[in-house]
Amino acid sequence: MDGTSTATPALTPLTGTTGALVEGVDLSSPIKPQTGQSLNEALATHVVLLFRNQALTPDRLLKAASIFGPPMEQHYSQYRMPEFPTIGVLSSRDAELRPDGTPILLGTESWHTDHTNHARPPKATILYALSVPSRGGDTSFANMREAYARLSNDLKSSLGYLRTVNTLDSHVPARNADRKKYAAPAIHPLVRTHPDNGTKALYFHPTKAKRIDGLPTTDSREFLERLLDQIIEPEIVYRHHWQPGDVVVCDNRAALHQAHADYDPAEGRLLHRVIVEGDVPF
Ligand SMILES: [Fe+2]
Repeated sequence: MDGTSTATPALTPLTGTTGALVEGVDLSSPIKPQTGQSLNEALATHVVLLFRNQALTPDRLLKAASIFGPPMEQHYSQYRMPEFPTIGVLSSRDAELRPDGTPILLGTESWHTDHTNHARPPKATILYALSVPSRGGDTSFANMREAYARLSNDLKSSLGYLRTVNTLDSHVPARNADRKKYAAPAIHPLVRTHPDNGTKALYFHPTKAKRIDGLPTTDSREFLERLLDQIIEPEIVYRHHWQPGDVVVCDNRAALHQAHADYDPAEGRLLHRVIVEGDVPF
């Protein structure tokens, strides 16, 4: 990048439904308010934004993320960057190990959205790739606005009444202090309304959603897993193949995502992650 940014970024759709490549924006330099507004509008429209060839210090990554909102604390403190604690360091080489010695690669367990156990879960997740494996390690994004739009009217109306009860528990081991700090469950609508444009989207984290409010845990799990199977179709997914220097912004109000564990962790996959404050889902 040449250190300048145009006021109106150029957008090229990445698929028929999901994602846009943003050109003409250097995230390492200050972003004009008008450009920031355009990027927020583009995020609400396209759900995922991709910026290529960025070179960001941690400080500049936080400033770039701030275009979309104030960075918020991530609840797994073991992954926080000590000097910049609102940056999460996702490093395959430093992954914690399961009892059988295999690494726990963050974000690979299933389709999900981040930090749903918070009363105000993050509006967006910003990922910055520093190093990537020679093959594999993509991240997929599924457009939950499109998923909702494809449901039958009957299903739309029955899902519209449901709420999920979310807790910190997931496949990632949490430190006791984090567990205590984030012990309170959060209840969210299964169908949420986008605060910027009023569109509806399915919203759930199948692992953190301990249950559907009013249903037993086992029935809830089965229900959410069946729902997930039903809604994820290739037409609503953008699968991102990482290059170093990529910044991807995901609108968590309208997308699920999943990292793919199909690579050699020893090769080194290093992403920096920032999440930014969001609203109470409604
Ligand atoms: Fe995630």
